[in-house]
Amino acid sequence: MTAPETIKPALAYGWLTRFYDPVVRWTTRERTFKSRLLAQAGIRPGHRVLDVGCGTGTLALAVKRACPAAVVTGLDADRTVLARAARKAAAAGDRVTLVESRADSMPFGGGAFDRVISSLFFHHLDRAAKQRVFREIHRLLVPGGEFHVADWGRPGNAVMSAAFFGVQFLDGFSTTADHRRGLLPTLMHEAGFRDVEATHDFNTPCGTLSLFRAARA
Ligand SMILES: C[S@@+](CC[C@H](N)C(=O)[O-])C[C@H]1O[C@@H](n2cnc3c(N)ncnc32)[C@H](O)[C@@H]1O
Repeated sequence: MTAPETIKPALAYGWLTRFYDPVVRWTTRERTFKSRLLAQAGIRPGHRVLDVGCGTGTLALAVKRACPAAVVTGLDADRTVLARAARKAAAAGDRVTLVESRADSMPFGGGAFDRVISSLFFHHLDRAAKQRVFREIHRLLVPGGEFHVADWGRPGNAVMSAAFFGVQFLDGFSTTADHRRGLLPTLMHEAGFRDVEATHDFNTPCGTLSLFRAARA
């Protein structure tokens, strides 16, 4: 029997999780890129929305704030970070369902969601895991459903390339190499998604942050 793969915590080490929100806020232009991701996702009242690798829940809670009539679920494999998300949801009075699960085998039926969103999650996964999770997300979307991702993309210039070494050093070169090569759209396409496109790049202190969209046919 093979040992289960370990989950990399939000800031690479569990003891750093408590600092995750301020670090991400100040190093990734978080508010700007997450607002843009939400606008791109076109979430409407009644949509069932899944945030994969939701971490402390910032994006899932932003969905609920922007569209209170959406049905929002956040999923993460780390119960410590989910506890933080639960506290933030309670403080905001927002009803978001939080599910503890690995993303490569999620406890939902096929076609359970109209939108799947994810930010800063895929660079935690090696290529084989990325491929499994993309296939799993494809399964969870209704026909015509959409997948919207924000994560590290191919550095747009030499400064962004140098800055991205910091992320690679912290989060690992094996899981971030495909981001430096700009391979996420190819992997999504191979998982069965249609109309895959990179929609926007942001220069950040940690490198180029890219937004992607894809659809289930
Ligand atoms: C860098 S954090 C991103 C959190 C949040 N999406 C955000 O934008 O701030 C990555 C999250 O992915 C979760 N994670 C890593 N591997 C996972 C897996 N295989 N399945 C589910 N969650 C995973 C970690 O626990 C962590 O909370």
